[in-house]
Amino acid sequence: MRYLILSDIHSNLEALEKCLELAEGKFDETLCLGDLVGYGPDPNAVIERVRSLAKVIIRGNHDKACSGLSDAAEFNPLARLATEWTRQRLTPEHIGFLRSLPQGPLVFDGFQMVHGAPIDEDEYVLGPGQALPALRNLTTQAVFFGHTHYQGGFLLTPKGRFQSIRCQGKPDGLTYELAFEEDGRYLINPGSVGQPRDGDWRAAFCHLQYGPASGRVLSHSIRPAGDAEENAGRGPSRCAHPAAGTRPINPRRFLQRNNIEKLPASKLD
Ligand SMILES: [Fe+2]
Repeated sequence: MRYLILSDIHSNLEALEKCLELAEGKFDETLCLGDLVGYGPDPNAVIERVRSLAKVIIRGNHDKACSGLSDAAEFNPLARLATEWTRQRLTPEHIGFLRSLPQGPLVFDGFQMVHGAPIDEDEYVLGPGQALPALRNLTTQAVFFGHTHYQGGFLLTPKGRFQSIRCQGKPDGLTYELAFEEDGRYLINPGSVGQPRDGDWRAAFCHLQYGPASGRVLSHSIRPAGDAEENAGRGPSRCAHPAAGTRPINPRRFLQRNNIEKLPASKLD
């Protein structure tokens, strides 16, 4: 089975459509790791698109906050404003849909899906402090997670060595390809469709090819081709921040201005 794995779309319809265009014909099923909404200008349209497309969707912290399942008190100021903006625009049906999304981790076809960490859906898996305990306690070979908006992940080799998976950009858009070793254990983050925070502003997603006959899994992550500046407009190009309206903005400047990258993990949201 060939899966398209999406995460952290954050109401960015433009970036979502670009990913779907690039992935066309290369997947059988779509899975979503949460945060459909929050930040971007098209929450209802993104929900409709993902709902009609994805076989499994789990909830993210923004899905909870924007549908009123949790409050946004712990969010940074930008995320809080975006949550309020989104709440006012979501249709009642879509609020109900977000509230109905299952909590991760969810085991699907031999691997797990979770928004944050396997032990806590809202925890950020940013480094060995969170990744090592998760890897040592995995009940499946792989966990696909989001929440950090960083494409890449972590693994335990068959010999028990811990490694980070860092995706290196290439001009053709294919950034990383990974063949899973049978006795390896993997935490894979497909990156964020709608608001990357890993220094590459191109929308990110992941393909997973799962071959039970061979007992091997092949995963590769792709970002749209082109240089980062050109593709900036395809990523978090618009924002639902009330002060910014829906004007196209430069996401690099936007994020610097709001110091999102400098915030501690607990304030990433
Ligand atoms: Fe997110």
